[in-house]
Amino acid sequence: MIAVFSGTGNSLRVARLLQKELGDAIVMLPGEIPYPADGRLIWVFPIYSWGLPPVVLDAIASSPEGRDTQTFMVATCGDDIGRADRRWAKAVRKRGWCPAGAFSVQMPNTYVLMKGFDVDSPELAQAKVTAAPARVAAIAAAIRQATESGRPASTDVVSGSFAAIKTGVIYPWFRRYAMSPEPFFADDRCIGCGLCARSCPLHNITMTQTGRPDWGDRCTLCLRCYHVCPAHAVCYTTATRGKGQSRLLIADLLSELDSQTH
Ligand SMILES: Cc1cc2nc3c(=O)[nH]c(=O)nc-3n(C[C@H](O)[C@H](O)[C@H](O)COP(=O)(O)O)c2cc1C
Ligand code: SF4
Ligand code: SF4
Repeated sequence: MIAVFSGTGNSLRVARLLQKELGDAIVMLPGEIPYPADGRLIWVFPIYSWGLPPVVLDAIASSPEGRDTQTFMVATCGDDIGRADRRWAKAVRKRGWCPAGAFSVQMPNTYVLMKGFDVDSPELAQAKVTAAPARVAAIAAAIRQATESGRPASTDVVSGSFAAIKTGVIYPWFRRYAMSPEPFFADDRCIGCGLCARSCPLHNITMTQTGRPDWGDRCTLCLRCYHVCPAHAVCYTTATRGKGQSRLLIADLLSELDSQTH
């Protein structure tokens, strides 16, 4: 079974590619995770500040107990994951699962909320999406071999420089001070379409009587509301001024979500 969280479609694309290779069923997060009938659980999610999104940590903490069954991590990132694989391994071990392989896949960057961080150029974003099927095929082969042999696969992630500091120091700081949804607002470009509210995975956005979105305090900072907006009207203080949107895979994500609700 593949349990996937995806803010803007990258991780969903990787999960679909994995499914094509391995045939495992997909369960979208947030949501209940049944015990995997096929005997393995593959977590697919984006990296946030060299760690795991809170929504994924919550899903792991409430997942069924693994009874020493193999579980795998396939994380998507813009560049590198620090030591997020170790955090993931610790979290799944607590549920009795046996971490049997961690992998990362570089996909278009979605983080835009701080100075100096922006989406990739269209060429780089497309190049990453084009390279994904070959990378996922190699990951699927390693997972298949680990399942057949009962032995863990080698860790195959891009940790990047200063990995220990990024995950051990910056990630906890980021969770505490840089994940508040309070600074979100819609500027004058907003056309009141409500797409940001309808598509928020945590149902954190309501439309006010004036036809503008209003953000609550349940947020995992996936930035779906920012990237999905057809008018590019979602702002986060002044940090998003002049920043781009990552929209290559957002239509696929929306149609997947749409098919689930109909
Ligand atoms: C809050 C936030 C933090 C991020 N931090 C990192 C990071 O530490 N390293 C990295 O390479 N990419 C980082 N990214 C980029 C995403 O991990 C990457 O774009 C991912 O593929 C998004 O997947 P999704 O479309 O499934 O949400 C971050 C994105 C967000 C929204
Ligand atoms: S998606 Fe954009 S245009 Fe539509 S309601 Fe939200 S902020 Fe306004
Ligand atoms: S409010 Fe926006 S960033 Fe926060 S969870 Fe919802 S869609 Fe994601």
